[in-house]
Amino acid sequence: MTNILPLRLGLNIDHVATIRNARGGNAPDPVRAALMAIEAGVDGITAHLREDRRHIRDEDMARLSLEIAKPLNFEMAATEEMKKIALRVKPHAVCLVPEKREERTTEGGLDVVGQHNLLAPYIAELTQAGIRVSLFIEADPEPIEMAKKLGAPVIELHTGAWCEALAHGDKAKAAHDFARLDSGAELAGKLGLEVHAGHGLDFYSAEVVAALPEVRELNIGHFIVGEAIFIGLPLAIQQMREAMDRGRAKARARP
Ligand code: PXP
Repeated sequence: MTNILPLRLGLNIDHVATIRNARGGNAPDPVRAALMAIEAGVDGITAHLREDRRHIRDEDMARLSLEIAKPLNFEMAATEEMKKIALRVKPHAVCLVPEKREERTTEGGLDVVGQHNLLAPYIAELTQAGIRVSLFIEADPEPIEMAKKLGAPVIELHTGAWCEALAHGDKAKAAHDFARLDSGAELAGKLGLEVHAGHGLDFYSAEVVAALPEVRELNIGHFIVGEAIFIGLPLAIQQMREAMDRGRAKARARP
């Protein structure tokens, strides 16, 4: 047997809230989805409180922190407003992401190199409050090395560009992007960072990325919530877990 560690699945429930907000009422309740997902075996819940509150709202974060028994991963931009909320909510982890009001979803990783002066005290304050800080970055050596210098224990590799290339059938770009993820995961592992991955993952891409031995957690939202419309949330989670297990069985320790 190799010394490959288990791979966790975090469910991002943002788009349950997107559907709720389309009608302005209380249903479907993202906290109910989180509880059901935990029952179905996810290892944690992720929610992104965006500056414009387009899906998750402040009261969702507060309820999640009180009602769920698994780790809560609070995705947010590195702003003063979000820091205050995070220090109040006290989630297990904060994942810092870039955020532009006009974007449809999180495009590109956090500019940790350009913003290191701002991020250093920000990460330190969250860490002192007992919150595990993760940085959502591109799988390139500069941001990975900067994440290490900034003292973040975790990075989440942005899989969005790779998943998009796969969806467009652009094999050359997909191969190039996956090679970046592969070497990024290896470098981060060597530096002692915990490696997560996410954005745009589906059954196929989750299975492929699960084979990278350093990756310890996948955070997946849109695809699972979409699939739940057809087969229900528990089965969508179960099938995602099976895909991840198939991929993990192919993981090999680096030479
Ligand atoms: N990880 C991070 C840091 C994200 O910003 C998102 C999207 O909010 C996800 C994972 C989940 O992406 P998706 O909804 O495409 O699965």
